[in-house]
Amino acid sequence: MAKTASFTCASCGAVHSKWSGRCDDCGQWNTISEDVPLSAGPASKGLGAARGKTVPLGDLATEDAPPPRTKSGLPELDRVLGGGLVPASAVLVGGDPGIGKSTLLLQAAAAFANQGLKSVYVSGEEAASQVRMRAQRLGLGGAAVKLAAETNLRNIMTTLEKETPDLAIIDSIQTMWLDTVDSAPGSVSQVRSTAHELTTFAKRRGISVILVGHVTKEGQIAGPRVIEHMVDTVLYFEGERGHQFRILRAVKNRFGPADEIGVFEMTGEGLSQVANPSALFLSDHEAATAGSAVFAGIEGTRPVLCEFQALVSPAPAGQARRSVVGWDGGRLSMILAVLEARCGIPFAGLDVYLNVAGGLRVTEPAADMAVAAALLSAREDVALPARTVVFGEISLSGSLRPVGQTETRLKEAAKLGFEAALLPERSKTGAVAGVKVQKMPDLAALVGDVFGAG
Ligand code: TYD
Ligand code: MG
Repeated sequence: MAKTASFTCASCGAVHSKWSGRCDDCGQWNTISEDVPLSAGPASKGLGAARGKTVPLGDLATEDAPPPRTKSGLPELDRVLGGGLVPASAVLVGGDPGIGKSTLLLQAAAAFANQGLKSVYVSGEEAASQVRMRAQRLGLGGAAVKLAAETNLRNIMTTLEKETPDLAIIDSIQTMWLDTVDSAPGSVSQVRSTAHELTTFAKRRGISVILVGHVTKEGQIAGPRVIEHMVDTVLYFEGERGHQFRILRAVKNRFGPADEIGVFEMTGEGLSQVANPSALFLSDHEAATAGSAVFAGIEGTRPVLCEFQALVSPAPAGQARRSVVGWDGGRLSMILAVLEARCGIPFAGLDVYLNVAGGLRVTEPAADMAVAAALLSAREDVALPARTVVFGEISLSGSLRPVGQTETRLKEAAKLGFEAALLPERSKTGAVAGVKVQKMPDLAALVGDVFGAG
């Protein structure tokens, strides 16, 4: 059988059957390169006549014990991992350069070591002395973490084989290289092959591995997406560089719920945990300003309150600006269109800025109504009633749709001292003490009742 070549985009991980200068999937240029097969094993020669051995087939009713887990003692990290680190699991932590991945994982290595796990931290980016200095600055100098600065995977695997740690942290996968792969570290084939070797080696030896992966926009080095499918858990570390808040988000987890978040704050002494994110995201919330709406959201299993801020101002000339931070730009356009078409409130000729305070990125459609309320409030220059939360989904017809976990959202609002909630009709509210609920059938009701406009 003729060997069929495949080509992979370093930016988005799409596989193509032939090379081209621009990736059809993500639109990036010069990011596609040919894949080198993982090994020249029997698979690449064809299976031939040799028979495989039979594998045992189980049934769905068989009960397996839940995997044993080790908690790090950092509850924000443990929650995102699904309740702790599973032995022999592979975790990928992705994020922009400089966001704090090395800091987080050095702290995690020390925390796991304090729980009795034998931890090894391999840095391919910094010298051992640099890592040691950072550890001392973070007050982790006394932790029993073994340290190495190495990029040659063959040496790393030999060392791990000898040391047999419980946990190995590889910072970062883009600096690692295998001498059997004929391309530069950071290329798609190197990143894939090293990640594959490491994860299978770790599974075989019962070692948990945490791989660090830099997210790249330029595609010079392969992004973490090309290895997402190989690992058990994918975490992304997000946040604005200028902001002190950092969010660790589980986007895939074979051992727990995805979409869970852990909230951290970057301080002079490293990352500290934020146990009550709602209080933090609302900490400098000024009471009742025009253009502000507090959204009662759900992140993973936790309710999180945050503030949407909108600013609407006349556009100088030509194309009006639409600028969004922390929310989907397409969704903003949709809400502006619904406000115009269904409620007769035009935003043409106006610049619109929308921002989620504190650096949180909200993905729930349940925030639609809070976005609309912030936009209307900014446009009409009328503040929403004080101590009020807003949530609900907006449909293209302009009607409001109830969202899940209404009671959990209302309880969190009550806990933080909110006294009223605006939400869609048909929401199952139950009885939450201290919060006056105002239900509305459609966006026009919000426009009329709250802002007296339309
Ligand atoms: P780092 O963990 O090196 O980022 P990454 O591994 O994702 O590239 O963190 C880099 C930033 O964090 C750096 O700009 C300085 C800042 N920082 C602090 O603010 N406080 C600290 O205690 C540490 C260690 C880093
Ligand atoms: Mg780093």
